[in-house]
Amino acid sequence: MALVIKIEASYPIVTAESILDELSTFIDNHYSDYRIFVLADSNTEEYCLPLLNWTSNNALLEADILSVPSGESSKTVEIYYNLAETLLELNASRKSLLINIGGGMITDLGGFLASSFKRGIPYINVPTSLLAMVDASAGGKTGINVGDYKNQLGSFCFPEAVFCGIQFLETLPKRELKSGYVESIKHGLIANPKLWKNIKVQNFEVLPEETGIAESIRVKNDIVGRDFLEKGERKKLNFGHTIGHAIESLSHLKGDPLLHGEAIAYGIAIESMLSQTHTGLSKMDLDEIRNLVNGHFGQFNCGTEDIPTILKLMHADKKNSEEGLNFTLLNAIGSCSINHVLTEEEVTMALEWYFSMSTEL
Ligand SMILES: NC(=O)c1ccc[n+]([C@@H]2O[C@H](COP(=O)([O-])OP(=O)(O)OC[C@H]3O[C@@H](n4cnc5c(N)ncnc54)[C@H](O)[C@@H]3O)[C@@H](O)[C@H]2O)c1
Repeated sequence: MALVIKIEASYPIVTAESILDELSTFIDNHYSDYRIFVLADSNTEEYCLPLLNWTSNNALLEADILSVPSGESSKTVEIYYNLAETLLELNASRKSLLINIGGGMITDLGGFLASSFKRGIPYINVPTSLLAMVDASAGGKTGINVGDYKNQLGSFCFPEAVFCGIQFLETLPKRELKSGYVESIKHGLIANPKLWKNIKVQNFEVLPEETGIAESIRVKNDIVGRDFLEKGERKKLNFGHTIGHAIESLSHLKGDPLLHGEAIAYGIAIESMLSQTHTGLSKMDLDEIRNLVNGHFGQFNCGTEDIPTILKLMHADKKNSEEGLNFTLLNAIGSCSINHVLTEEEVTMALEWYFSMSTEL
């Protein structure tokens, strides 16, 4: 029998090989008299929509499809505006439901559109990338970019439900799949040693199982459930991201862009070094984390000469204040603490350590 895992949050999260039946039943039970709009990008329209054979559900069959080009360049004010105009032209109302079918770009863009259109219409996320399944689609953070600045317009707004169908991942490019595993690594490191133990032996080119995805979502969900608006504990989810985001931006400036998960993997390695010096992570655990990152993602195109730019980019990040650079650090595998404010000198030492290790490999 097919395995269907249901996670109870403020809204249901379902993980299964195929989610068509679950999605269809949910709509019949809760939104049978709603008009349905589906948001997809050019790839998910081509590869994922055909997997949803909607002939058994009239509401879905009559849905209007809104499609945008794939990639981060669609997470913009202009595309958001065009989509709002299209919804108006199609007479969407508060009795409309938006279903976002795609990776984190679509769930962020569609979530923001739904949370703001006519002051809010309900939305459902159907994540189709691993990163969106284990991270972006659950947690209720939505947003779009403004110019070069990420997620500057956004909202905190939970979806009505999230349906993760593993079968979607079959067409996801291997590099995207590998990158998606990184947020699960983070979830294991900050809160679930068993998840870390399982994931460190996982082949990142192979599709994960429903149980692995569900375990990862549970970590995020538990934290978000206690601190939806990121006043405190939710900052745990930023582990690896203070340095990771700066490395991601640097890679774009250098014209050799890293995927989000790849940049966060390097951030995790370097912030683990900071954890060893500031919060007592053991040398053995640090080595294991660094070896895992190197084994899967190798070295990135950057060296000590890039440290001033990395520091500058870190200061521009909304996580950091004028007093210093704010980190979530590991105390041990499966345990972390927030709000460690470090100086540029301390961060520089960790970056130098990482670059010197990389050249030894
Ligand atoms: N809101 C949050 O909590 C949160 C958390 C993490 C990341 N994010 C956001 O998520 C985005 C990154 O997510 P992503 O990595 O999924 O990027 P993405 O949505 O751009 O998807 C990556 C690529 O994979 C393609 N794709 C997706 N599913 C596919 C499938 N099943 N088959 C074939 N191709 C497929 C997409 O078209 C795209 O080209 C960023 O915008 C980031 O800011 C948000």
